[in-house]
Amino acid sequence: MTKEKIRGLIARMSLAEKALQLTQLRSDFYPAPGAEAVPTGPFLEADLGEEELYCAGSVLAGAGAEAAAALQRQYMAKNPQGIPLLLMSDVIHGLRTVFPIPLALGCAFDEALAEEAARIAALEAAFSGLHVTFSPMADLARDPRWGRVMESAGEDPFLNARYAAAMVRGYQGDDPAEAGRIGCCVKHFAAYGAAEAGRDYNTVDMSEGVLREFYLPAYKAAVDAGCLMVMTSFNTVFRVPATANPQLLTGLLREEWGFAGTVISDHTAVSEVMNHSTAETGEEAARLCFEAGLDIEMMSLHFHKNLAALVERGEIPEEKLDAAVERVLELKNALGLFEKPFKDADPQREKQLILCAGHRAAARRIAGESAVLLKNDGCLPLATDAGPALVGPFAASRDVLGGWSVFGRTEDCVSLYDALKGRGIAEPPAWEESRVGIDRALEHCRDSGIVIAALGEPSDDTGEAKSKARIGLSAYQEELLCRLAAQGKKVITVVFSGRPLILDKAAEYSAGLFMAWFLGVESGSALADLLYGEAQPGGRLAMTFPRCEGQIPLYYNHYNTGRPPKTASGMGEAFVSAYLDTPNTPLYPFGFGLGYGERRYSAPRLSSARMAWGGSLRASVTAANPGSRPQRETVQLYIRDLSASVVRPVKELKGYRKIDLAPGEEREVSFDIPMEALSFVNGRNQTAVEPGRFRVYIGPDSGTDNQAEFVLDAPEGEIR
Ligand code: BGC
Repeated sequence: MTKEKIRGLIARMSLAEKALQLTQLRSDFYPAPGAEAVPTGPFLEADLGEEELYCAGSVLAGAGAEAAAALQRQYMAKNPQGIPLLLMSDVIHGLRTVFPIPLALGCAFDEALAEEAARIAALEAAFSGLHVTFSPMADLARDPRWGRVMESAGEDPFLNARYAAAMVRGYQGDDPAEAGRIGCCVKHFAAYGAAEAGRDYNTVDMSEGVLREFYLPAYKAAVDAGCLMVMTSFNTVFRVPATANPQLLTGLLREEWGFAGTVISDHTAVSEVMNHSTAETGEEAARLCFEAGLDIEMMSLHFHKNLAALVERGEIPEEKLDAAVERVLELKNALGLFEKPFKDADPQREKQLILCAGHRAAARRIAGESAVLLKNDGCLPLATDAGPALVGPFAASRDVLGGWSVFGRTEDCVSLYDALKGRGIAEPPAWEESRVGIDRALEHCRDSGIVIAALGEPSDDTGEAKSKARIGLSAYQEELLCRLAAQGKKVITVVFSGRPLILDKAAEYSAGLFMAWFLGVESGSALADLLYGEAQPGGRLAMTFPRCEGQIPLYYNHYNTGRPPKTASGMGEAFVSAYLDTPNTPLYPFGFGLGYGERRYSAPRLSSARMAWGGSLRASVTAANPGSRPQRETVQLYIRDLSASVVRPVKELKGYRKIDLAPGEEREVSFDIPMEALSFVNGRNQTAVEPGRFRVYIGPDSGTDNQAEFVLDAPEGEIR
């Protein structure tokens, strides 16, 4: 539809219709197909008339091609302008073919896999009748107490930005109107991941420099990749709720980044402005959010109830209301809904595509890349005839989708036992969090020298409003490991969780340790492939694993302080920035993960010891596998700026390359470092580069000390 036609439509709309176009309801507000339009349940509570229902611009929808098409048919028959309804939903890590949780996908250190997963999610969602997904979630996460770490690609801005952009490409392709594509919505703008103490929805307070340098790049990358929508966050930014924050929604997003798409609030976030005490009434909340730059209010009705009156009283110019409505209609237009209001809703294609063999195969391969091997004393991979006993809460559980798998079903999942029973492994006993449960498990392992203990947190312990102050394995699970180890068993612990856990005891008692996260529908098969060496472990941690909760927040790219310890642990040193009772170092650093082979790195080589201003240089390393098994290795490049006008992180990820090394193979891996890679946010909150000394690290994880140095020369004519 042309711009003129869209504007013509807007000219015919009443103020009330316009305000409703900016309102998102839930699809269960609408009567089921064939049912009479008798207002019930939520519909009644919301105090909406039938006419109003059919003017709301978008819904938070369920999936199913038939239901979606029926809803659209019903809606368009009653909408006074014949405007189609937008159907949005949370397709976070797959629709029915559920992929690993995003944090696990981050551990694959391969954004092409995230793009592939998003592409498949888009296919299943589009043919199920959805138009937009509320993904990617680009919130940088440093605090594993926060339950939503599972939705993000972890603690690093570089990795997060690459993933966010890749997912946008995966969902939208070149044209979101094309069959099999959907629009997407990056969230939660901004810095939702920095909730104090990891408690969901809690206050966020940080300097603008930190916000810009660490938290914003991933949202920006999604916007630059053409993401159609942005969702605001629940938290405050600079002491103003993000949803009512003009500095964020207009200054930064629209003016600085040039975002021309549609901005939606998070669920009831407009109402919550009153709880934040920056508005006293619903009318004030509506005005503040609208003026700040919000287009759509999700699931509260302050826009609907107040915008028309605010325009009539001259408090909001009608042109501003029209501009917001135009952005919503342009979104519908970008998705092709004016020409094809049902878009791809097609019950037959839906059935063919959902969980088809190709999608399942991709889910299994991607899951295998996302698990992280944390310890291996040589017990892995298992020999074909190893015949381990299998115990623990996740031994036979199909509850392995992880949070935010809104459309996923546990019956679609392959459990560890499902995958292992063909290999002669006995049925595990039911697990119980009690001494009885431990005894039963021990009895089951009596005659086995090798035990696979499938432990972890329930999948429902991570996700929204799932913060925890204690993030270890349960006491019973740790006791099981302790007693198995005391009996001389080789224990291979496989940990299921949506967040990093405190694994000090698990590491101590286990001969092999896998972080399995929640790997989606093919969890069990992917893990079996890895345990038996039929797939190579290539995952690397996208979040630091602390030794204990007291170290949190613990992340690799921290500043140095004026009193850094001389040793890595800092313990026993006087008057340094350290703990008396715990080392400064994590249990496992960011980027950490093992393969089945071995790896050795040469010292980094630089193409030059100096970089000319505006130039670049090349850093190379020789990675070798001196062992007798293949090694999948993720070579990681970090840089440290040794002196700058503001403090700089001790290391920053600037590149990574996944390679396969055959036994005995050596391979040169090179990274180009352009001058822009040395930029940072200076004291005036501008992105800048400053000449001086830089250290390059290339190694297997962020703990590496394998380094070389170079100097960035000042621009010609400038004396420093
Ligand atoms: C969550 C969002 C989600 C929305 C719609 C909110 O509670 O914070 O991430 O997209 O609900 O389901």
